[in-house]
Amino acid sequence: MNMKQLAAEKAVEYVKDGMRVGLGTGSTAYWAIRKIGERVRAGLNIRAVATSKASEKLAEEEGIPLIPFDRIDGLDLTIDGADELDRELHLIKGGGGALLREKIVAYHSKELIVIADESKFVDKLGSFPLPVEIVPFANEWTMAALEKLGAKPMLRTDGERIYVTDNGNYIADCRFGVIENPAELHRTLLALPGVVDNGLFIGMASRAVIGRQDGTVTVMN
Ligand code: A5P
Repeated sequence: MNMKQLAAEKAVEYVKDGMRVGLGTGSTAYWAIRKIGERVRAGLNIRAVATSKASEKLAEEEGIPLIPFDRIDGLDLTIDGADELDRELHLIKGGGGALLREKIVAYHSKELIVIADESKFVDKLGSFPLPVEIVPFANEWTMAALEKLGAKPMLRTDGERIYVTDNGNYIADCRFGVIENPAELHRTLLALPGVVDNGLFIGMASRAVIGRQDGTVTVMN
């Protein structure tokens, strides 16, 4: 079993009958959705909401009953991956482009469990370029403003084309270097007109499940 699968399957043990569950996005969340599907087919009774079109499709294939995204009415637990996490369980997310829906789902969830392989665990956030979702019609102004904040923003592309999120927006991948104060950067970015949201998840995760190369799993609270 690979490290991502190890972490994901351990986290799925926290899913209990009757829960409303948020399904993350990415190659680690993939394994969680597969495992939840297996448990649903074995009789687990839950309802779920997906954080991307890709995860929604996978959940449907797995036979997981889904709540439409605009009908969220409180969730018990969300299981999602991350691009980086630190000791305080602050996260960088959005490498897969789903940060906005992921943050909405995490916000409405009583608990967010982050699942990752050990390479994602860092002393300080910032090696992974921070994804910032921006509105397309102001992208040049917003990119310039991000640059003034000290980032080196790169508009994300998908082959020859500009990458477009499930929400019709663009992503600026921003290299800020080491992020000494993630909470402050988060607030600064949210205050910038043209920015829809950013991939910093501050104080949202309450537990991390880390899969390790040696086949063990560490749970951090
Ligand atoms: C999706 O937008 C992201 O937030 C993912 O959760 C994150 O990029 C982790 O993805 P992997 O599990 O594929 O590394």
